[in-house]
Amino acid sequence: PKLEYLLTETRGRVGIVTLHRPKALNALCNGLFVELNQVLKEMDNNADIGAIVLTGSERAFAAGADIKEMKDRNFIENYSENFLGHWTQIINIRKPIVAAVNGFALGGGCELAMMCDIIYAGDKAVFGQPEIKLGTIPGAGGTQRLVKAVGKSKAMEMCLTGSVNLTAEEAERAGLVSRVLPADQVVDEAVKTAEKIANLSQPIVQMVKDAINQSFEVPLAAGLTFERRLFHATFGSNDQKEGMAAFAEKRKAKFTNN
Ligand code: HXC
Repeated sequence: PKLEYLLTETRGRVGIVTLHRPKALNALCNGLFVELNQVLKEMDNNADIGAIVLTGSERAFAAGADIKEMKDRNFIENYSENFLGHWTQIINIRKPIVAAVNGFALGGGCELAMMCDIIYAGDKAVFGQPEIKLGTIPGAGGTQRLVKAVGKSKAMEMCLTGSVNLTAEEAERAGLVSRVLPADQVVDEAVKTAEKIANLSQPIVQMVKDAINQSFEVPLAAGLTFERRLFHATFGSNDQKEGMAAFAEKRKAKFTNN
């Protein structure tokens, strides 16, 4: 079926999803998110794809949840329908997702980027949580993931004022993004990184993503145990045998994803 709000393509083993609602700066309306969940799930289940790049336009990654669409909702509707609950389906995608962010990443747009595994930012990118100016609060991780990414003081400053935003460089310094690039190179660099990941052993890649994500959920000792068990488990794979044999034989490993 034709997509209304997204563009998709594959380059090599990388799936690229582009948010494409230019008239509304990629405001994340319900229809857009339904399509996004569906496309990401398809890519997750496609063995020809090893990693995913999520991007928007040069002007906006996404300017947040669609304010016009949600402005008349009431509490009972939100609660009984678990409004925007489907946004969190993204964190169940097992393949790594690299966000390539240009322009505005505000509100739900910033939260969406933070649900990805790696963030690359264009030099004009702006990260912010302006919800308080609308009389609401972040609802998809802005008060939780942002704290872990930039620390309490910056997260408080951003969420409490709604107007203190991070430039790309500030975001990199704070640890929210791992690289700042010229705007026209962000997607290509994200694809390069995704391609690197996509050519490694896919089950082992998944273990790394699982283990790092575990660090956000459990106390250190439990996270370390989880990591150690997965480390042990890698020795049950052919790819561990191949990877270590290739090193000893001074050749490039040929992984078979088993
Ligand atoms: C609906 C939006 C929108 C949004 C922009 N537009 N952001 N529509 N929801 N979040 C629309 C505008 O209404 C306008 O439509 C068009 O996109 C272009 O935007 P302009 O405002 O004219 O552009 P500009 O002057 O360049 O300003 C850019 C901007 C501003 C600073 C990004 O658009 C803005 O402040 N947007 C809202 C940002 C925000 O508050 N986000 C948080 C949303 S709440 P027309 O039809 O007039 O041309 C949220 C909660 C998440 O995200 C909860 C998750 C569970």
